Amino acid sequence: MTGELVELAKRRGFFFQSSEAYGGVSGFYVYGPQGAALKRNIEDSWRDRFQVQEGHREIEAPTVMPEPVFEASGHLDTFDDMLVECPECGESHRADHLIEDNTDIEDAEAMPLSEVGDLIAEYDLHCPSCETPLAGEPVEDFNLMFETDIGPGSGHPGYLRPETAQGIFVEFPRLKEYARNQLPFGITQIGTAYRNEISPRKSIIRVREFTQAELEHFIDPETDEPPLHRVEDVEVTLYSAVEQNDDDGDYLRTTIGEAVEEGIIASDWVAYYLGVGQEWYERIGVDMDRFRFRQHLAGERAHYASDCWDAEAEIDGDWIEITGYAYRSDYDLSKHDKYSDEDFTIFRQYDEPKVVERATVDPDMSYLGPEFGGAAADIAEALQTLAERDRTAFDGDVVTVEADGDTYAIPVEKTGFSVEEVKESGEHIVPHVVEPSIGIGRVLYTVLDHAYDTDEIEGETRTRLSLDPEIAPTTVGVFPLMDKDGMGETARDIAAELRSHGLDVVYDDSGNIGRRYRRQDEVGTPFCVTVDYEGLEDDTVTLRERDSTEQVRVAVDDLPNLIADLRSG
Ligand code: GAP
Repeated sequence: MTGELVELAKRRGFFFQSSEAYGGVSGFYVYGPQGAALKRNIEDSWRDRFQVQEGHREIEAPTVMPEPVFEASGHLDTFDDMLVECPECGESHRADHLIEDNTDIEDAEAMPLSEVGDLIAEYDLHCPSCETPLAGEPVEDFNLMFETDIGPGSGHPGYLRPETAQGIFVEFPRLKEYARNQLPFGITQIGTAYRNEISPRKSIIRVREFTQAELEHFIDPETDEPPLHRVEDVEVTLYSAVEQNDDDGDYLRTTIGEAVEEGIIASDWVAYYLGVGQEWYERIGVDMDRFRFRQHLAGERAHYASDCWDAEAEIDGDWIEITGYAYRSDYDLSKHDKYSDEDFTIFRQYDEPKVVERATVDPDMSYLGPEFGGAAADIAEALQTLAERDRTAFDGDVVTVEADGDTYAIPVEKTGFSVEEVKESGEHIVPHVVEPSIGIGRVLYTVLDHAYDTDEIEGETRTRLSLDPEIAPTTVGVFPLMDKDGMGETARDIAAELRSHGLDVVYDDSGNIGRRYRRQDEVGTPFCVTVDYEGLEDDTVTLRERDSTEQVRVAVDDLPNLIADLRSG
């Protein structure tokens, strides 16, 4: 089916490879007129469910960010895939994919490099391009970020963001002000992310430039709880980590409420968003018989995630990850708090002031002497941070700190370390983050694949996309039976009127009416309006529904509201 769908996508303007005039380049796709409209509708629907209905706010951050951001986030060190290069043709391949595609092993991504190398030899795997054996070839880490220079010269390296999320985390000091320093609050972003994938594949499923819709929900892990009651009865199919390697009983059909009670979903916040997600995928037309949530195995989790589930859709027998749900804990904000000069904490007010012990050091280290250069203030700051985090570091004669890129051993008696009792009205905490992260292109591909159908009408095979009216690129096709005797003018006026009500309308008067219906069926237009001779007499039209092909006669004046209602379900 993939072949037919990709062919239809190309022919009817959903998506196609970019720069084809120059041979094309793998992993970059254009959304054509139908695809761009479908994508926008999916984004709007996501925005409605994950942002507006949850009371979150949206931002738009740059796609290029400076290197220190990714040093802090861990992407420079750990955002790697495993690469093996063919010694004959020079083609690079993802080593874990080679194993997963050619053996029964499903989780090669979670294995160490050496084990993957051993498996390539054990199974005698060959280069998919030229069939050369790959046994013994080195398997290496390959960082997926695209690097660039910011401004002339190479003094300011930057990277195209590999996830929209970092654009939210880095701006947390300002965003918390906007939220009046109150948790919880959520920030969304829909935008482009870039990954220099080793082997882009499956058309828009694995590409090098793609759109993510991400929500970063900042919470106080001790006091904030999700409104689980809103989703507790939502039914889900879970493919649980515990059971993934069992031959039987892989799947668990349950409700969000029960899965939380049984401890199958560890984080209540992740559970909440799985419930929200389940309802949303169903709303936009994902086939629920070909959909599941899969818990990540421990070794498979991203470097920042402590609990992670994927929403997966079945496409041509393969399960494709369309969304990642991660409990990122305080990983990102702690890192940016540590690496930057800004404050990524939130002040948590106590119900009543508390007497607490506070460890302090002498804030003025200038007496340390010239051998410490100008580092005295930085040493004092590092000592103070250490005193707050780990007092035992001051138990010996000497305390070791890092400041200004150097390590200093300072006699404890010189630090002025002391512990005193003080009354505090609250404390600074680093918020935790729960994140649903959706790949819009993968969701778009899924809804197209699950909507693709053929049936027979009047002895002819018709191809149709039964897209949900909320996301269909065109909501209504308007046709005159023939462009004569005033039917064309009337149909064009109706099209203009419907457009003025915000509906996506296409006008078509070419070819016979059956062909025009087929053209709209093939791109998923749910409704077609036809102006005929009878309608010219009594100001009515026929309204046809795509899937059933049923037609009813309705008054022209009623059309805009009727179609708007049908679209919103
Ligand atoms: N901020 C978290 C994050 O980026 P991820 O699981 O790496 O998590 C989230 O990505 C989603 O982005 C995935 O579920 C997938 O839908 C989409 N995605 C990731 N890599 C992609 C690629 N190369 N091509 C298309 N979509 C991709």
